[in-house]
Amino acid sequence: MSGTTNATDAKRFTINDFKTRKQSKTPISVITCYDHAFALIIEQTGIDVVLVGDSLGNVIAGYSSTIPVTIDQMIYHTEIVRRGAPSKFLIIDMPFMSYHVSIEDSLRNAGKMMKETGANAVKLEGGEDFKHVVGALVKASIPVMGHIGLTPQSVHKLGGYTVQGREDDKRKKIIQDAKILEDAGAFSIVLEKVPESVAQEITESLSIPTIGIGAGRYCDGQVLVLHDLLGIDESFAPKFLKKYANIFEISKNALQEYDREVKDKKFPEEKHVYK
Ligand code: KIV
Repeated sequence: MSGTTNATDAKRFTINDFKTRKQSKTPISVITCYDHAFALIIEQTGIDVVLVGDSLGNVIAGYSSTIPVTIDQMIYHTEIVRRGAPSKFLIIDMPFMSYHVSIEDSLRNAGKMMKETGANAVKLEGGEDFKHVVGALVKASIPVMGHIGLTPQSVHKLGGYTVQGREDDKRKKIIQDAKILEDAGAFSIVLEKVPESVAQEITESLSIPTIGIGAGRYCDGQVLVLHDLLGIDESFAPKFLKKYANIFEISKNALQEYDREVKDKKFPEEKHVYK
């Protein structure tokens, strides 16, 4: 019956846990995911939150930025992740230009993305300029995660993917934006590639949790791109990244061995054959 709580729900990470985790100072773990196979693996871990990031434009589609990513692509990937990770708190990124035109357009796009994917919340990039969008979405019962600091959808405005907030005026602006997003109703904020001291000041001044990526040790949680953490792209190695595996090497070796064995007629063996 809808509206009731069962045993599984009781263990699930919900929107309320963002605040309680901040209050109890228990860090929130967030990972990106884009497909069903990895979603099945994540479902079996203790990771709290899954983000279908528009970083899929880079790591899945091979674009040089997130700008070409469409609403339909986000919906497709989020829906297949949801099927693999049914119990996780799932956030869908709103892609470039899906919340920039008008409040009405933003509501329609976010509503469609929620309805067709089973996501629990949306994420969008930007501070003060988007406070009315955040307010309208929250009013329509669509939880919003903010994202400030390095905002990849603004790469052409920023002139690259560099650390943001090192200069006094930019530092002040990021700190102001964080407060504005909290006041507009965001339930959490991603801080990307900012000096640790900026992230610490924001984290200590807000009642909603900050989730850092390249934002140092004092955020209320951390997020990494799945493919970066697993070392799938051997060439991507920014300072903030810790690679927990070298899947590039493992995959390449496995594929080379397969190729050799096919050519040497070592695969398939008798045990692989149907009688
Ligand atoms: O698109 C993405 O994956 C993100 C994370 C890096 C926070 O926005």
